[in-house]
Amino acid sequence: MSKQFDLVIKNGVVVTSGDVGPLDIAIKDGKIAHLAASIPEDAAERAIDAEGAYVMPGGVDAHVHLAQDFTSGPGGVTGKCADDFMTGSRSAICGGTTTIIAFAQQNRWEESLLDVVTAYDRGASETGCFSDYAYHIIITRPDVEMLKRELPVLVNEWGITSCKLFMTYTAMQLRDNELLDVMYEARKLAVTTMIHAENGDLIAWLTGECGPPKSIHLELIHTAEKLEEKGLIEPRYHAESRPPIVEMEATHRAIVLAEMIQNPILFVHVGSASAAAVIRKSQTRGFPVYAETCPQYLHLTWEDLKRFHSPQCFENSKMICSPPPGPDDSDQEALWTGLRNGTFTIFSSDHCPFRYDDIRGKALGVLQHAPSMEGSTCPIDQDHVHDIVHGKTGHFKYIPNGCPGIETRMPLLFNYGVMEGRITPERYVELTSTAPAKLYGLYPKKGALMPGLSDADLVIWYPDGRMTPFSLTNDRLHHNVDYTPYEGMSFTNWPRYTILRGKVVWAEGQLLGTPQDGEYLKRKTSQLTTAAVRSIADDKRRVATWLYK
Ligand code: URP
Ligand code: ZN
Ligand code: ZN
Ligand code: ZN
Repeated sequence: MSKQFDLVIKNGVVVTSGDVGPLDIAIKDGKIAHLAASIPEDAAERAIDAEGAYVMPGGVDAHVHLAQDFTSGPGGVTGKCADDFMTGSRSAICGGTTTIIAFAQQNRWEESLLDVVTAYDRGASETGCFSDYAYHIIITRPDVEMLKRELPVLVNEWGITSCKLFMTYTAMQLRDNELLDVMYEARKLAVTTMIHAENGDLIAWLTGECGPPKSIHLELIHTAEKLEEKGLIEPRYHAESRPPIVEMEATHRAIVLAEMIQNPILFVHVGSASAAAVIRKSQTRGFPVYAETCPQYLHLTWEDLKRFHSPQCFENSKMICSPPPGPDDSDQEALWTGLRNGTFTIFSSDHCPFRYDDIRGKALGVLQHAPSMEGSTCPIDQDHVHDIVHGKTGHFKYIPNGCPGIETRMPLLFNYGVMEGRITPERYVELTSTAPAKLYGLYPKKGALMPGLSDADLVIWYPDGRMTPFSLTNDRLHHNVDYTPYEGMSFTNWPRYTILRGKVVWAEGQLLGTPQDGEYLKRKTSQLTTAAVRSIADDKRRVATWLYK
């Protein structure tokens, strides 16, 4: 006779974004079926003893780049993500994440967003996915007629209810009027608008790529300011081409534009205290602005861009991401405060996997910058591109931006946030699972443990003191990247079990899932965005209320 439940998790401390307490959890047909102080073991086909450890909703990583070509630098220099849906999601579940939202990216020459999504989806179907998955759309060519035609199809047929816009990257940067065009259309459909806030013109100017017409007066400023003119082009100078004020200005400007349009926005990968302060101020005024930060901004600084061998070393390109981490750890402290006090709504990885020794990875920074920097003493210890990049330092502007982190996101915040007392377990669940599910229209299927409604996606940790502490090495991880920025960091806990819709896909260091396990998630419009749109719709103080009449 078949049993009442498929699986019961016993003796754990169940944590949701609101509550924490000793409960057993029963699972049936991939759903949370029952929570109670005690559920008999023999009521289920199988039992897992959680031994007093935390049992939480599986992680929702709302910011990952997989199977994506990415043009960070000038001149159409294109990097290629080393992870596809198969390898990226494999890494995700080994780190406690059961749902990912990845970016389908429009290139400037592509006219139809629907074509972009269709092609991207084909790739995901071909490789399969270990976790459940959904897409955001990146819009780089915001033709208004196309937006009017295609955004409703994306929302209604694909369940793609969020878009990302860039204020930087030469090949993808939108002007203010283009940002307004998208926000105006997004607002009508309550599409969550994600903003990459960095002033691209300012970066280009500081780098020396372009600038105002020469005059005697301006020329003086150029020679005083530009990194290229001073020969300051090694990987570490990537950060100096983007000091925190670059992010702060764009953040402020995007809020002004969004407020004019009355469109709630979300800032992705916020890296600096000054941008967080601008966001906080706007939230305090009552304008709905959401924000995300990521592990690299809690754990890296400009010093990490000088970490390898010598400050000139090309290997420092491994730490290049945009925005860069802060100059020193004062930004980190401010971001931890923001995670506690609600400035940050969600915590994502921004997993952007470029291999170091790949000609479509970080090595592009040397290959595109052929003749320079002979005589550098820094070794590059990799096989494939060794001969080409050896002894050179390249140019930061050609290096694909981004760091891997899909597998380390949950453990880093658990170890350095929860276990070190910086955030509560409930806040941890909110940041890593519940809030992203709500923000991106997946709640309560994801991000919750509601009987009958929520998928049985769980992460179960080790009981206190049970795991032998270890220093992280890249070979522990399951991504397709040849490094981790967090090499050598110590961990005393890691997900012991990851469960996806009732199936144990990761157990005690063993990968049990398959690329056939993951399902595509058609998302609803965001509960947070919809509520925010309503709350500001009739506010007469907003500048352009008439737009929607
Ligand atoms: O450096 C980063 N963050 N690369 C990923 C692409 C992006 O802007 O999110
Ligand atoms: Zn970005
Ligand atoms: Zn990103
Ligand atoms: Zn080196």
